[in-house]
Formats: sequence, C-alpha cells, structure tokens
Amino acid sequence: MRGPIGIFDSGYGGLTILNEIHHLLPDYDYLYLGDNARAPYGSRSFEVIYDFTLQAVRFLFERGCNLVILACNTASAKALRSIQQCDLPGIDPSRRVLGVIIPSVEAIGKLSESGHVGVVATPGTIKSHSYSIETKKLFPEITITEVACPMWVPLIENNEAHGPGADYFVEKYCREVMQRDPEIDTLLLGCTHYPILYDKIRAAMPEKVNIIPQGKLVAESLADYLQRHPEMEQKCSKGGQLKFLTTENTSKFNQLAELFIHHPVNAERIQLI
Ligand code: DGL
Repeated sequence: MRGPIGIFDSGYGGLTILNEIHHLLPDYDYLYLGDNARAPYGSRSFEVIYDFTLQAVRFLFERGCNLVILACNTASAKALRSIQQCDLPGIDPSRRVLGVIIPSVEAIGKLSESGHVGVVATPGTIKSHSYSIETKKLFPEITITEVACPMWVPLIENNEAHGPGADYFVEKYCREVMQRDPEIDTLLLGCTHYPILYDKIRAAMPEKVNIIPQGKLVAESLADYLQRHPEMEQKCSKGGQLKFLTTENTSKFNQLAELFIHHPVNAERIQLI
C-alpha cells in the first residue's frame, strides 16, 4: 500500500526540514508529526527519547507511512540506530526510518575550507558525540567543535525566538563556539529548530563563518535515496498533500506552525502511547 512520507520531530523544528523537502519534492504526500506536548527532547535521557521516538514511528506506520524521516537530531542521535536494528525487523522489515545526522555529515566535508567546523545542537545530541563520531569516519582531517545550546529550543517552542531573551542566549553560545576554536569557518545548525534563529545566529557569528541549516542537505539526500530505492519510491503516494499531527492543542500548533511553514495548517491532535 502506498502512503505518505512521515516526518517526525519533537516539536516545530522538523517543519524547517519539511519546508525544504516539500520544496524539492512537491509531488509526494507528507504526514508531519510534532510531539509538541512533550518537547523539548534535548535534555531528556536516552531511554525516554528512544521510547517517545519509537511511539511516534509506530504511529506514523499505523497511519500508512512506509518511510519515516526523523527530522530531529536528538531523536536521530539517541534512537535511530536502535529502531533500525532492533525494532524495525520485528515491526515490518519493508519499512524504513532515516535520520538527519548522516546527510549533514556527508555534506560537511565539502563545506569547510579551514577544516574547522562548529556544530551547535541540543545537549542530547552533543552528549551523544554523533557528529564527531560520524565525521571522523568520513572526514578524519576535519576538527569538529560541538557546543550544546540548551536554551534555544525552549525559546522557539515558547514563541520567544524573536525577542530580546533570544538575543542574549544566541550571542552567549555563538561566543562559546568561537572561543573554543577561532579557526572555525563553518557552523552546522545541528538541530532542526535552529534555522528559526538564523538571522540572530548570523548576526552573532563572524562574517567569515558560513552558517549551514540542514533542511536542504536532508532534502537532497532524500531525493537521492528515493532515486536509489525505486521499491520505496513506489510506495510513497503522490497527491502533493501536507497533513499535520500534533500531541499539543491544535490551535496553538496551527498558529505557530504557519509562521514556520508559510502555509495554512489544520492539524489533528493525537496521543502517543
Ligand atoms: N529539533 C530537534 C533536534 O533537531 C530537537 C529539539 C528538542 O526537542 O530539544 O534536535
């Protein structure tokens, strides 16, 4: 049975990925799930993030998705491998779950001239060291500096991304990145929420630093995946529809989501268990 491509994030951040995927691949149907009621995930333990992510994946499978993108670095870092290796074979080996870290790392090598790259992300992603570990495998010559920004997601989830509180915390963590390695010329936004703070991050970082959101990288990687896997491509329905699910109150979700996606949003409230 054909079904929509599932896009999962703890909250609104995955909408920055959905935007780019939908822009590049507009013909497919997409089902977005934001676990807004339990966001942020970034400071939660491995076990909790894994449980929540698995619940979301199962839900999206039940709604007909054959392919699910974890548009969340924290979930990709903490849950993707276990889901792919331990859960998927028992649930349905013909379905697929993909993450956002590998497509971003694959692009890192081509982006930096100095060979010094900063990664900003949630405490969960940083503690996993997924970016350093994966980069070392593909580009051992690159030096990665990972900085956790625990306040950025809460600011965004609480609609404070454009307020003065955001200025303070954006400057604080950007300063830390450059103090830790002044040779950095590329900063990867290793959390799908962070593009919402792009203008402030741009203003806080030195001009020489190229700031890289993940959306385009993930979209291009998905296009490539679908081309290389025609059996999965054929299972993705093509009606050009976008549908939204949230675990939070829908009017709050619709209002904020529209700011990110510039598209009318009429979400359905669901419960994950
Ligand atoms: N947007 C998510 C990420 O890319 C996580 C945000 C959170 O819930 O802490 O890591």
